[in-house]
Amino acid sequence: MFYAQVLTLFPEFFSSPLACSIPDRAIKARLAQVDCINIRDFSVGKHRRVDDSPYGGGPGMVMKPDPVVAAIRHARESRPETRVVLLSPTGVLFDQAKAREYAKSPGITLVCGRYEGIDERVAEYVDEQVSVGPYVLSGGEPAALAIIDAVIRLLPGALGDERSAEQDSFGEDGLLDYPHYTRPEVFEGKHVPEVLLSGDHARIEAWRCEQEEKRSKRQKR
Ligand code: ADE
Repeated sequence: MFYAQVLTLFPEFFSSPLACSIPDRAIKARLAQVDCINIRDFSVGKHRRVDDSPYGGGPGMVMKPDPVVAAIRHARESRPETRVVLLSPTGVLFDQAKAREYAKSPGITLVCGRYEGIDERVAEYVDEQVSVGPYVLSGGEPAALAIIDAVIRLLPGALGDERSAEQDSFGEDGLLDYPHYTRPEVFEGKHVPEVLLSGDHARIEAWRCEQEEKRSKRQKR
């Protein structure tokens, strides 16, 4: 069982995506468990404040360190085996290798902050900082969701009997997937490649390999 704990101010963000398709099946099959922990539950005082104005002035609010760090301590106590990861556009880039690394581990604790500001001192309480790409999201939640999805589909059994994660894009060979076609044979004048109708499995296999190489070369990263 793979555990993901998500520390967030918006636990509702995760409900419907995780109740769809592959994550839903994997969670129901007990291959994975995702627990959302509301950072607000760790705020103190009458107003349960989770943010405050920035020292030095400037626009916007900054997430206070105390509720976030209290939530991290709670998460570490409940699941000491998980690595604590802060989502941040300044972190190391999340890629398929990282997804595989997480999928092999007992679990992860993902800390979602709002991009506009989380007190910098929180960084000292996490094990690593990860970014999902060179663009700015309004918070860590969509990044956490992308990571959870990428990891769940790698768990043995998550894709069902008929498929394996290795056959998909970025399988163990590091290449992008080949193109897929289904009926109709001609769609708006566009034909399915002849080789796929040939019934010649060796030729089909060779064509697919060639396509994977071509696509991977074309898509620079
Ligand atoms: N928070 C805001 N932007 C992000 C990104 N690109 N990756 C991870 N966390 C983020």
